[in-house]
Amino acid sequence: MNARLKKLQQILSKEKLDALLVRTFEGDNHNVLYLSGFSGTTAVLLVTRKKAYIITDARYFARAKEEAPDFKLVKVQRGNKVSDHINEAMSLAGLSKSSKVGFEAGTISVHVGKVWDKDIKAKLVPTVHIIERMRQFKDEDEIAQLRKACRITSKVYKEVVPLIKPGMTENELGFEIDMRLRKHGAINNSFPSIIASGPNSAVPHHATGDRKLKAGEPVIMDFGGLFPGGYCSDITRTAFVPGKKPHPKMVEIYKIVLEANKAALKELSVGMMWRDYDKVARDYIADLGYGEYFIHGLGHSLGLLVHDPYNYEKDPFEVGTVITDEPGIYIEGFGGVRIEDDVVVTATGAEVLTKAAPYWQF
Ligand code: GLY
Ligand code: MN
Ligand code: MN
Repeated sequence: MNARLKKLQQILSKEKLDALLVRTFEGDNHNVLYLSGFSGTTAVLLVTRKKAYIITDARYFARAKEEAPDFKLVKVQRGNKVSDHINEAMSLAGLSKSSKVGFEAGTISVHVGKVWDKDIKAKLVPTVHIIERMRQFKDEDEIAQLRKACRITSKVYKEVVPLIKPGMTENELGFEIDMRLRKHGAINNSFPSIIASGPNSAVPHHATGDRKLKAGEPVIMDFGGLFPGGYCSDITRTAFVPGKKPHPKMVEIYKIVLEANKAALKELSVGMMWRDYDKVARDYIADLGYGEYFIHGLGHSLGLLVHDPYNYEKDPFEVGTVITDEPGIYIEGFGGVRIEDDVVVTATGAEVLTKAAPYWQF
């Protein structure tokens, strides 16, 4: 039996819920994949304290059987309402009109909520963060998948560095990266690759375009793959276009960002709060006079989503927390540097998953 399902069933008892509905529509909710293994885009799970059902349509019957063996398949018939089949699953599970059935308030639209309220024969209760909280801490299997994703992503970076030339466009460089991610096993990008050259490198989430790279300029490459199994990688490296020495101030900024990245990594440990982790890099950069140019957080949780759920305010890091370490300095009109690694918290500190060298040698 699936350990995540078992854990959720224990949580249901503790929360005094008889069941929980977990819906994904066009892939908008990764909790379905996390709980069941079903990787299709449209389904509803009904998890009771003892049983589990997957309600989906004919496009997915075969996949649901294969990928979600712990869930009994309830087939949506063409022309029927999905909520009728949710009721069918509820009666198979022995639930009644007085059963308390949770639904994920963070993913159910007001419209679907109203339809369910009218159609579903149970007492519906909004819930938040139940499965998201489980997803914060990765198990061994998830870490193995992330390790592999990051190994491939690091290899892609190494392969593209020698291709960087003056005259190449941001889009062309992005294509070289995306093509290699797919070639080495990714099924998609985890987000559209960010290639930011010259002054564009001062825009943290620049929209990659047709600007041509010039000799000596910085080029930020921020990219990641989505791999079979559903896990994401997310790496950033800043390179310099060959043919001219980079500006001395760029070199200075680069070294500061790299040291800030390393300083945060060194301090990372079980029990640490997010704000203290962020502060290590922020203080390092501020002490060297660039505090106002580090304009975003140090990183984020990583998993099935590139920005995976995490209660940053409240939950200290545990063994299995996977986060990014991505300080940056951005000077408008001049340029910027970001260096990003994916890191897993371990009992003794942290393991870097994105081992891509070279860091830039000047
Ligand atoms: N590429 C998105 C991020 O690094 O957060
Ligand atoms: Mn990131
Ligand atoms: Mn990134």
